[in-house]
Amino acid sequence: MRRYDTIAAFVSRPSGMEDETQEEILSQFKEKRFGGWGLLQLTAGTGLAVYAVWAGILMPGFRRVPLKLQVPYIPASKRQVCSVMTLLKGRSGSLADLGSGDGRIVLEASRQGFSPAVGYELNPWLLRLSRFHAWRTGHYGKVSYQREDLWKVNLSGYENITVFLAPSVLEPLQKKLLAELPEDAVIVAGRFPFPDWTPCRIEGDGMDRAWAYHIKALRKHHLPSKVIRSTEHTS
Ligand SMILES: C[S@@+](CC[C@H](N)C(=O)[O-])C[C@H]1O[C@@H](n2cnc3c(N)ncnc32)[C@H](O)[C@@H]1O
Ligand SMILES: *[C@@H]1O[C@H](CO)[C@@H](O)[C@H](O)[C@H]1NC(C)=O
Ligand SMILES: *[C@@H]1O[C@H](CO)[C@@H](O)[C@H](O)[C@H]1NC(C)=O
Repeated sequence: MRRYDTIAAFVSRPSGMEDETQEEILSQFKEKRFGGWGLLQLTAGTGLAVYAVWAGILMPGFRRVPLKLQVPYIPASKRQVCSVMTLLKGRSGSLADLGSGDGRIVLEASRQGFSPAVGYELNPWLLRLSRFHAWRTGHYGKVSYQREDLWKVNLSGYENITVFLAPSVLEPLQKKLLAELPEDAVIVAGRFPFPDWTPCRIEGDGMDRAWAYHIKALRKHHLPSKVIRSTEHTS
């Protein structure tokens, strides 16, 4: 963990880095003068470069999110957005998209009458892009993009939720949603279904498929087990 911290500090603050840390790293390397020195250097260099790309370009803003909960940005296709919206047809009021990317789902929700339509996103570049798209299409005052970790947001005020995240985080997300959402909430998942839940409706085919879930129906089948605190994931 310590090495991870060092690398994190190294990558995130290249200019303000203390010489002490640098010397520490160098002396650590110098101590081990064995045959594989070159190889070690190469491996460390490559690892650092890969980490730099991940932390600086692909996942800025994610330093406090545990690695196993990080989901990269993959925009939804037009047909995916369409499937999601079909499942929400007839609903209105507020909507939250967890991990809103460039804001396309939030924007479409706003077009279909959801208000307020809120997106939670950690990547500052995607947030800027979202706000630009909102401004360009005249939806600036109607949508809201918030720079917040979805694992820390209290979702108890939402009854209309959309998610398009990786399968690996849908399992822990099930617990959070079951613990926090009000009884009338509907969740629509794009691309990947929740692993343990039975959907009430499915829309679209293949990659464009979306699944809808009713919290009330889920609670009947899943007894309230351990209530997960939203802060538990980020210690
Ligand atoms: C697969 S993309 C989906 C983007 C958008 N919803 C769409 O459908 O086009 C997932 C997004 O979730 C964001 N994300 C992942 N983990 C997050 C977290 N803990 N808090 C906020 N946003 C997160 C990522 O930055 C990424 O933009
Ligand atoms: C979610 O949609 C339902 C059905 O249209 C609507 O009655 C409700 O107000 C919405 N939820 C919230 C919190 O606005
Ligand atoms: C979320 O907010 C509601 C209402 O304000 C509150 O009752 C609940 O305890 C909060 N949940 C968490 C996990 O903080």
